[in-house]
Amino acid sequence: MTQLREALSRALPEEGSDDAQVIDELVRDTDAGILASAGGRFFGWVIGGGTPAALAADWLTSTWDQNAALHACGPAEAVIEEVAGDWLKQLLRLPPEASFAFTTGAQQAHVTALAAARTKVLADRGWDVERRGMAGAPTLRVLTSGTQHASIERAVRLLGLGADCLHPTDTDDYGRIDLTSLQRRLAEQDAPTVLCLQAGEINTGAFDSFTEACRLAHDHGAWVHVDGAFGLWAAVSERHRHLLAGVDHADSWTTDGHKWLNVPFDSGFAFVRHPGAHHTAMSTRASYLVHTADVDDDSATPPARDQIDWNPEWSRRGRAVPVYAAIRALGRRGIADIIERCSDHAYRLAIEIGALNGAELLVTPRINQGLVRFLADNGDHDARTEHVIDHVQRSGEAWFSATTWNNMRAMRISVVNWQTSADDITRAITTVHTALDLELAAKKA
Ligand SMILES: Cc1ncc(COP(=O)(O)O)c(C=O)c1O
Repeated sequence: MTQLREALSRALPEEGSDDAQVIDELVRDTDAGILASAGGRFFGWVIGGGTPAALAADWLTSTWDQNAALHACGPAEAVIEEVAGDWLKQLLRLPPEASFAFTTGAQQAHVTALAAARTKVLADRGWDVERRGMAGAPTLRVLTSGTQHASIERAVRLLGLGADCLHPTDTDDYGRIDLTSLQRRLAEQDAPTVLCLQAGEINTGAFDSFTEACRLAHDHGAWVHVDGAFGLWAAVSERHRHLLAGVDHADSWTTDGHKWLNVPFDSGFAFVRHPGAHHTAMSTRASYLVHTADVDDDSATPPARDQIDWNPEWSRRGRAVPVYAAIRALGRRGIADIIERCSDHAYRLAIEIGALNGAELLVTPRINQGLVRFLADNGDHDARTEHVIDHVQRSGEAWFSATTWNNMRAMRISVVNWQTSADDITRAITTVHTALDLELAAKKA
């Protein structure tokens, strides 16, 4: 950090500099602080790369520099978003009538989808939240697994629901909601309710039982939201699709483009089964704007889509453009191929690392997530796991991150990069093997 601050911190320039010099120095000064997270041996968190078409389309988006707030500000980007939204629904096998929003990521997609949920479940109780706000509103509860991604908690805070609205159900060891516990929770209170399910639990990659959970929730008038930041992409693969059985019964879904679709960052999606609630929650009007969507030209074509009516931002980047390019360049088959290759790689990493002397396989990947840990003779497995991860990260050969699962520190295996090859996996396994030896040698010394 010191090195980066020394390189980058300069007095605020009074006078400008030559453009090329600024860029050259920017490259030089950031060198020590750029992670190779776009590369094929980066297995930390859930971070994808960028396919060539997506990356080029992203540059094009910056070059065009359109404001993708309204159709009138950039008709081509408005139509690109319309088409890409429709393609995504087909790829992810979501209901064709669902509305959608292109957001910065799954975090803002949660905010968007849960804002629509809040509108609907409160309207069902006679409360107009857009006009009256949350003060005095019927108390809304959000049922979760308790292992939900932290972005759900932040979304409910941003929506004025407060973190206390979250009520965890029991789960199994993999973070899947226990249906008996869910049924009990649903029945214990007559309140406006949202149920958050997961398609891809962050540590185990587990999928909830969507058909049964949606049925139970809908029997109690609840809204079902699905966090599928990476797991929803399993729908594209014939091999993995069964994990999502019944997910289309939900009321809203979020996923990311910047994970498994491998488009550059700033790419999340919200889908909402109830376009009316979605539009009510997000739309806005101002006298100086031009809403092409409001113009009834009496023609047979559907009205234009103004993006501002569906997402939480005002001015915004044309973030559908790289998505459109990625889908065109890969096709459904190319995307399925990425999902299946990454899942095969994750499986091999987990099995072969788990079989190393001193390692333990904790979670076998069903899709692209797995967990291993490293055992210590003195019983301090958490410390050894941290040390081995540290050795691997310092090697520069591969990168894994740590997590806590069932009160154990573990090394998380996450494969989402389109570039990862079988050779990358072999090198990563060798690196972990070497790290185990080095760590042992360091301890003996
Ligand atoms: C399951 C899950 N949900 C939500 C998020 C938040 O997504 P984003 O970082 O795109 O906002 C993540 C990010 O890693 C995630 O893995």
